[in-house]
Amino acid sequence: MPPQQPLEPPTADQRLIWDIYFSAHVMPLIAECDELGVFTLIAETPLAASRAAERLGITVEWAEILLGALASVKLMRVQDGLFHITDATRCYLLPTSPYYAGFTLRRFAGRNIYERLKAAVDGARTTPPAKAAPVEADAGSSIYVVREWSEAELNVERVQTGVRTMHGLSFAAAVGMARSVDFSGVQRLLDVAGGAGGFSIALAQRYPELRCTVLELAAVCQLTQGYIARYGVETQVDTLALNMFFEPWPEGYDAVFFSCVLHDWDLEHRTELIQRAYAALPAGGRIFIHEMLLTDAGDGPLAPALYSLSMRIGTLGKQFTASELRTALESAGFGQVTVTNTFGDFSVVSGQKI
Ligand SMILES: C[S@@+](CC[C@H](N)C(=O)[O-])C[C@H]1O[C@@H](n2cnc3c(N)ncnc32)[C@H](O)[C@@H]1O
Repeated sequence: MPPQQPLEPPTADQRLIWDIYFSAHVMPLIAECDELGVFTLIAETPLAASRAAERLGITVEWAEILLGALASVKLMRVQDGLFHITDATRCYLLPTSPYYAGFTLRRFAGRNIYERLKAAVDGARTTPPAKAAPVEADAGSSIYVVREWSEAELNVERVQTGVRTMHGLSFAAAVGMARSVDFSGVQRLLDVAGGAGGFSIALAQRYPELRCTVLELAAVCQLTQGYIARYGVETQVDTLALNMFFEPWPEGYDAVFFSCVLHDWDLEHRTELIQRAYAALPAGGRIFIHEMLLTDAGDGPLAPALYSLSMRIGTLGKQFTASELRTALESAGFGQVTVTNTFGDFSVVSGQKI
C-alpha cells in the first residue's frame, strides 16, 4: 500500500459521543445507589468517600467511583473533601420526599430498551426487513401500554407498580402546574385517566373551592383513593371507575383535564377522547391538556423527544408540538386555545368550548 496522507483529527469534539456511550450507565448507577441507601446516608450528614464506604459496607474505591459518578451528573457535590447531596437529590431521590422518583428510575433501569426499540421499529417498517424480526407486542408492558384495554389483564401488583411508577415522576409536575395555570374559574373538574390523582390533589390543595373527580379504571381507583386520603383532600376529590372509551362520561363538569393521557394513543383514539370531552362539557367549559411539548422545529428538547420515543416503544402514542394540540382542539370545536409552560418541559394547552 502506498503511504497515505496523515489523518487530520475530527472537527467535532468527541465528548458528545463519550457522553452518549456512557449515558446507559446513568440509570443503573442511580438505581443501585438508591437501593444501597447512598442518598439517605449522605443526606443525614456529608461524608468523605472513605467514611461513606464504611457506612455502606463497600470498598473505598467503590465509594469513590459511585459518589464521583453521582457528582458528575449533579446528584452530589464535593466541598472540602466531603460529598453533599444536591437540591435535586433532596427533592427527587430521598424516599421521604413527596416527589421521590427512585422507585420509578429503578423500575426502568433494568429494561432492555434496545431490544424493545428494535422490535417496535421493525413492526413499523413500511418496507419489510429482509428477515422480519418477530415483534414482541408490548414486551414489559405496564398498565399504560395495553393496546386494547383489557381490564382482566390488570392484576393488583401490576396496577400498584404502574401507578407508583407514574406518580413518582408526575407529582412534582402536578404541584408545579397547579401554581402556574389559572383554574380559578373552574368549579368541577373531570381528571380523565388521572392515575394516582396527583393533579387533582395538587389542584384541590391550591383551590379549596374546587371539586375534582379522577376518572380511572376500577382497579386503579382503589389505589387513587389511598393517595387522596394521604393528602387529606377527600372532601374535594373523588374517583369514578369508568372505561373512558367504552362508557358514557358523566355530566356536570365545567372542565376536563388530561395529563399524559393523549400521548398514550394513536390519532383515532386521541380524537375520540377530545371529542368526548367536548360532548361532556357545557358551552364555555374548558379543556386542559398537560403534556411535555416538542418544539415546532422538531429538534427536541431532549426529554420530550425521548419521551416521544419511549411512548412509541411502549404504547400507540407519542409527544406533540403545541401546534398539533392546538389543531386537535380547534378541529373538535374548541376556541381560545392558549399554551402555558408549567414545570420543566411540561406545558398545558387549554381551550374553551364555544
Ligand atoms: C400515563 S398514565 C397518566 C396518569 C395521570 N394522568 C398522570 O399524569 O400522572 C395513563 C392512565 O390512563 C389510564 N387508562 C388507560 N386506559 C384507560 C381507559 N380505557 N379508561 C380509563 N383510564 C384509562 C391508566 O390506568 C393510566 O393511569
